[in-house]
Amino acid sequence: MSDIDTPENEVKILLVDDEVNITKALRRLLMDVDEYDVHIANSGQEGLELLAEEPDVGVIVSDQRMPEMTGVEFLQQARKLVPDAVRILLTGYADIEASIAAINEGAVFRYLTKPWDDEKLLAAIAEAAHNYWLVAENKRLNALVFKQKEELEQWNDRLKQRVLDQTGQIRAKGDALARTNQQLRNSFNATIEALAGLIEMRDHAAPSHSRNVAELVTVVAAGLKLEDAEKMRLRSAGLLHDIGKIAMSDQLLGKLPGELEGKNLHEYQNHVVRGQAAISMVPELDEIGILIRHHHEYFDGSGFPDQLAGESIPLGARIICAADMFERRLAQFPKSEALTSALASLKEEWGKTLDPGLRHPLEKGAKKVYSYLNISSKVRECKVSPKGLEPGMQLQHDLFSGTGVLLLKQGTVFDENAIAAVQRCFMIDPFEQEIAVLLRNAEAPEVEA
Ligand SMILES: [Fe+2]
Ligand SMILES: [Fe+2]
Repeated sequence: MSDIDTPENEVKILLVDDEVNITKALRRLLMDVDEYDVHIANSGQEGLELLAEEPDVGVIVSDQRMPEMTGVEFLQQARKLVPDAVRILLTGYADIEASIAAINEGAVFRYLTKPWDDEKLLAAIAEAAHNYWLVAENKRLNALVFKQKEELEQWNDRLKQRVLDQTGQIRAKGDALARTNQQLRNSFNATIEALAGLIEMRDHAAPSHSRNVAELVTVVAAGLKLEDAEKMRLRSAGLLHDIGKIAMSDQLLGKLPGELEGKNLHEYQNHVVRGQAAISMVPELDEIGILIRHHHEYFDGSGFPDQLAGESIPLGARIICAADMFERRLAQFPKSEALTSALASLKEEWGKTLDPGLRHPLEKGAKKVYSYLNISSKVRECKVSPKGLEPGMQLQHDLFSGTGVLLLKQGTVFDENAIAAVQRCFMIDPFEQEIAVLLRNAEAPEVEA
């Protein structure tokens, strides 16, 4: 037997010779090899017909000298039918030249002379079967790799699509969550504003005090470059800082600590603790509650309720304390000089009751918020009905609904939203029809001025 391993799978062998004795002898020779499935044809034509039915023949052994079709002619045509089959020619010495020509044209893998040597013939067939098997295996593996590559590409495409789908879903969920968060924030802010409205309805002497303080602390916080969340917290604390006064007696409302003593002073001072307690049921308002508690602590430690001093007072509480004091002072002076006089009156307080580090931010913020108090010659006051409001007009006095709810604060510059809100409220809870506004001369309406 040959040194070359026989292939792992069965290989079909086709033997073609017009002499039956020869094909029988060849079949006998090959019958001991289990991996060979031997087929016989007695002419070239018969061989071609068999190949048409068995296209997976791996090795063809053909005699050269046959009537009607020579071995070379047969193998040339067989090559067209089964190009991968390995072809061997058996030839006599007289036909060697034709055999060599056939080898050179690529029609024949090898030729063997008759009479053949069994060992050499077996070795040649084994090598041919092995070559066929290698080529077939190579093709099979290539096809497998191609198929796996295609599957991998399809899998990749599906995965990519899935990632895109999931990214889209996550984005949509994120958008929905952001909308819900915004709605929650809006309703939280609206609730705080509503509570502030209640406080202001209670304190007739200072009907827009809470909103004024809230606006001023927000501007001061922006000047100090505090983070947005801190600014929002400070604004809410500004709106609610005197919520503890709701339960205060009429007699004490609007008084300042310096005007009170004994039991009344104690009652007044309690409004900060009561305010913190009132909102402590809402965990989200915890930090706001701390600012409410300490908004009357003084920088030198002489305030209440805990006599904290310096930087041990939360920064937000120090800002509210300064804005609160400034806002109260503002009301004590005539409007034309209120801003300058109120700021001047705080001069002695910086470093004593108020944090000196907040002086510049508060003065700057106050000038920004209350700039409308200094009316220039280019603007003038006029009165308009709710329908006559236009964007850019500035409210000259606090605007209340018919039953006394503060709608907008003095100084508000109207935009489309504010105008719509005022007109809507006018339908529900009508107020005195004329609204005092400031406007530049060029903007003054002809009729209602
Ligand atoms: Fe207060
Ligand atoms: Fe206050």
